[in-house]
Amino acid sequence: MFHWCLERAALLGGKNVTPMPKLKPTSRKYHDFDDINLEDEYWNQGDPIRFTNPEIRRMLSLAKAGENDVFCDFGSGFGQNLIIALTEFGVRKAIGLESDDTRAWRSGNRLEELGLDKRGRGTIVFGPFEDFKDAELRKVTILFYGLAGGDDIVPRLQRVWKDSKIRRRLIWNDWHPIPEAFPDEVEYPFFLTYFPQTRRTYPAREWLKRVVLQPENLIKYSVKHSERDLWTEFAHNMDVLQFRGDVAGYKERLRRVSAEN
Ligand SMILES: C[S@@+](CC[C@H](N)C(=O)[O-])C[C@H]1O[C@@H](n2cnc3c(N)ncnc32)[C@H](O)[C@@H]1O
Repeated sequence: MFHWCLERAALLGGKNVTPMPKLKPTSRKYHDFDDINLEDEYWNQGDPIRFTNPEIRRMLSLAKAGENDVFCDFGSGFGQNLIIALTEFGVRKAIGLESDDTRAWRSGNRLEELGLDKRGRGTIVFGPFEDFKDAELRKVTILFYGLAGGDDIVPRLQRVWKDSKIRRRLIWNDWHPIPEAFPDEVEYPFFLTYFPQTRRTYPAREWLKRVVLQPENLIKYSVKHSERDLWTEFAHNMDVLQFRGDVAGYKERLRRVSAEN
């Protein structure tokens, strides 16, 4: 798949492709991840690397990522989440789906340079995640979904991840919260939802409390928050994150989830 990406990037005349600097052979334990200068990159498809490495560690630690896991990132950018999952958490496999050809090519190249592509451990699939086959998604045990929208992701996981023998985990974050997913565990700004879901319907207030009143252990006061208070704070947070325009959509989606209650 990666080689196909290379061919495609070549066909496109190397549009936006900066040649990758050759990294030193990676026989040593410590990998040099500082191979990209984000100031030189284009951002019109969103951040190519969204999180610092400490934040990614926080995300993967919330997911309890380990050697039995297949980690997947829908919209994987430059593949930083995959690289940390493979090198520091030792996941069995990491797969990135990326619809931007240059980013798919760059991330595939990074995995190769770090020797993480061997035996298909680290793989980049060029194309929209929507085309990722259900049979492949079934092999995934941890999915990071950090894209906008997200209305369709939970129904899809309910269908594909219904096997109750494996406790699969969906991780999402504060930028694009998912009302259809109850946050079973939180390491702010990351939220974890187990599949099969522990709760498929819930009052809007319970979801909001979990999402808004974070970090939970730092909230010492025992003020009772009405649903209205929680919406106000939620809207404020989305405003700060520059997604205030999305709040009406979240209200409608959460109303639908709680109406089924
Ligand atoms: C904000 S970046 C995040 C990159 C990475 N997940 C991270 O956390 O560093 C989102 C990436 O998703 C890609 N993307 C957006 N929609 C997609 C889709 N439907 N299928 C696959 N990739 C998509 C964009 O091209 C972009 O590189």
